[in-house]
Amino acid sequence: MLPKRVKIVEVGPRDGLQNEKQVVPTEIKIELIDRLAEAGLSVIEATSFVSPKWVPQMGDNAAVLAGIKRRPGVTYTALSPNLQGFDGAVAAKADEVAIFAAASESFSKKNINCSIAESLKRFEPVVSAASALEIPVRGYVSCVVGCPYEGDIAPEQVAGVAKTLFDMGCYEVSLGDTIGVGNPASVQRMLEACARAVPMARLAGHYHDTYGMAIANIHASLQMGLAVFDSSVAGLGGCPYAKGASGNVATEDVVYLLQGLGIETGIDLAKLAAIGDWISSAINRPNGAKAGRALCAKAAV
Ligand code: HMG
Ligand code: MG
Repeated sequence: MLPKRVKIVEVGPRDGLQNEKQVVPTEIKIELIDRLAEAGLSVIEATSFVSPKWVPQMGDNAAVLAGIKRRPGVTYTALSPNLQGFDGAVAAKADEVAIFAAASESFSKKNINCSIAESLKRFEPVVSAASALEIPVRGYVSCVVGCPYEGDIAPEQVAGVAKTLFDMGCYEVSLGDTIGVGNPASVQRMLEACARAVPMARLAGHYHDTYGMAIANIHASLQMGLAVFDSSVAGLGGCPYAKGASGNVATEDVVYLLQGLGIETGIDLAKLAAIGDWISSAINRPNGAKAGRALCAKAAV
């Protein structure tokens, strides 16, 4: 049975823009976040409090959170890989923070400069500090199907990291197919293993669309009862530590799929398509949302 309602976590302003080579002006980021909230996105990953030496594009994190018009009912989240990042996120009034681990040792080293075990240790004080302030923490696992350096990743390896994050106190664990190599069969195998370790209601799918499989992977996950998905308006993005990986699945395409399946999201698809069109021209890149392009073309006739 498919879920009746799905929560979409919009990660475009962070996962989408973090990879842009040209600095995206802070005002554009702010306008993007405000327009997404206005279109009905209720969870928006606004930025990340990581080292600006590692990801310069997110260096304006505090200014972004200071500039947005906070809409009641919308949760504005930020990545925080360590206590320094957590303190920054709290000072900037992020409603929720996310910690991010990997299921692949090599990716962990490249992305956050430490082993998986070291990263999990480093997250413990972040989760305790967040718990003391009653700030919810979301966990990510990257490379849940494949790794750019190690190839295939065993589902049990992913489930182990997901369980550690969940047991540590993450209220939700998002499973990232960082390089978008998954297909419905491999994603279902991975999800099956994770759902044995963490309740399905506490898991989310974060699928990149490198091989064009992300919508199929979401459909396969919905059939297993997964009801939270991360996506990025206009399919923005890529990962600075995963060469060739394309953006997240486009939010427009996900909403079009869910509407077709009669699943509620609370998102205005026409407004969303217009935002995708606008941000793509604002940062001078093609619109990666197929449904978004089709809807804009139709609206222009
Ligand atoms: P490190 O170099 O090992 O850190 O980096 P360190 O603790 O040794 O500190 C070195 C310097 O960084 C110091 O500055 C610190 O102050 C500074 P210095 O003394 O040299 O001037 N520093 C910081 N500055 C600002 N904010 C901070 C911070 N921490 C240290 N929070 C670190 C370790 C984790 C910081 C680094 O590797 C890093 O920032 N990595 C972030 C990488 C990143 O953002 N990747 C993209 C996001 S993950 C992703 O996209 C995947 C996901 O979407 C899911 C999926 O698709 O699979 C989530
Ligand atoms: Mg990602």
